[in-house]
Amino acid sequence: MTISGPYFRRHVFICTNERPAGHPRGCGCAGADAVAGWNWLKARVAELNLGGIGGLRINAAGCLDRCETGPALVIYPEGVWYSFRTTADLEEILQTDLIRGERVLRLLMPPPPPVAARVGVPASASGPGPVVSGPVVSGPAETAGS
Ligand code: FES
Repeated sequence: MTISGPYFRRHVFICTNERPAGHPRGCGCAGADAVAGWNWLKARVAELNLGGIGGLRINAAGCLDRCETGPALVIYPEGVWYSFRTTADLEEILQTDLIRGERVLRLLMPPPPPVAARVGVPASASGPGPVVSGPVVSGPAETAGS
């Protein structure tokens, strides 16, 4: 069998890391019950028959180093970062981004710092870092009444 293109069309990682209470980095991941969110999204992708080779893959991850803006979810190959709170948020990410390839602006994490400001990256490096742009749609909160 020959596979052209990525093994999975879109690969989603959800941080399920838990930190002890009072940890200096804090983390929204455990507080939002990210494990339940991960299990819900996996089941929803299976229900819609969107998983498997060439489809969507939903994986749990350890700390994704976006703790302060978590609960963290990242989609590759684009490197689109979201923070979610509810299964309604996950459904919106699924329908809008994972299925239609558009962004859910209201759930996007803030963009990362410029490449030159990152640890271990030479100042001569260029590029904007992970892609956070793409086809854009407004979330329900932004379209209501407009
Ligand atoms: S603990 Fe979730 S991103 Fe760090």
